Amino acid sequence: MPIDFDNSRRTPFDLSGKVVVVVGGGQMPGPKIGNGRASAIVAARHGAEVVVVDIDPGSAGQTVDTITAEGGRAYAVEADVSEERDCRRIFDVAVERSGRVDGMVYSVAINPPFDIATNTMARSEFHRGIDVNLLGCYYCNLHGAQAMRRNDGDTTGSIVNISSIASIKNEIGLNIGIMPYALGKCGLNQITELTAVQFADAGIRANTLMLGPIDSTLGNHDAQSLFGLDPTEVDEVYRDTVRLKMGRATAWETGYAVLYLLADESRFMTGQQIRLDGGATVVR
Ligand SMILES: NC(=O)c1ccc[n+]([C@@H]2O[C@H](COP(=O)([O-])OP(=O)(O)OC[C@H]3O[C@@H](n4cnc5c(N)ncnc54)[C@H](O)[C@@H]3O)[C@@H](O)[C@H]2O)c1
Repeated sequence: MPIDFDNSRRTPFDLSGKVVVVVGGGQMPGPKIGNGRASAIVAARHGAEVVVVDIDPGSAGQTVDTITAEGGRAYAVEADVSEERDCRRIFDVAVERSGRVDGMVYSVAINPPFDIATNTMARSEFHRGIDVNLLGCYYCNLHGAQAMRRNDGDTTGSIVNISSIASIKNEIGLNIGIMPYALGKCGLNQITELTAVQFADAGIRANTLMLGPIDSTLGNHDAQSLFGLDPTEVDEVYRDTVRLKMGRATAWETGYAVLYLLADESRFMTGQQIRLDGGATVVR
């Protein structure tokens, strides 16, 4: 069915009738909201039924509780994205329970532990980082798009892969601590394009949302451990990163950018890397 953008009574960014899977829809426990949770809540507020996927079932459950307390619809699925069978099961469960999948947001990443003094990381930790940051994204794109392809012909699918400006900035140098993350995000950028090309004929779109510094609990935690920062220094360092002096965003800004990419309003956009970074990457 064509979308009637001419209709002045049309509700913009309406996700009613859509089922959106948010992978990483819990969050690291802490005071600041994470990008996956904010995206899940915003999607539900705009009418989607949300499948909240996380390795931490308690955290996924909290997101579900927030959504249902507001009158929205959501349920949790526990999964470890480093396991292909879990990535496949996420979409099997969603199709079985909700009948379809229209959107998928991949909002998972880890920074494995490393020794900052010797710049070393155990090989097993490095591989775990790649499994979560890159291979999990690959399998969720593949199984997510295959599930969306089963929708009836007049609907579209949309995949949003959450990347980072760490995949295109290079001041950090050869810090082994950032490698599984930065390389994983480079791979994610490429996975988006491959998904967009392969599934375009099925009406399925894929875009990368590349984030700059977001004031999430995990963002703060990782900035401290990666660069040996004191908690009070993180804001200042990021102010320097975003040279346009925009400081940091909250994850809610991410949620609204994700909303646009999931909604039919963005139906002509696919295969793109959209930077939500306060201009951090335009000043060189
Ligand atoms: N916070 C930032 O500054 C920032 C910047 C750029 C990109 N990002 C991206 O935003 C996304 C979300 O990060 P966030 O900072 O909002 O933190 P977050 O609190 O949302 O943490 C990510 C979630 O992923 C889950 N997770 C971890 N390993 C998993 C696994 N193996 N299987 C399933 N779930 C798993 C965690 O339990 C957690 O709920 C990540 O992709 C991150 O790279 C964040």
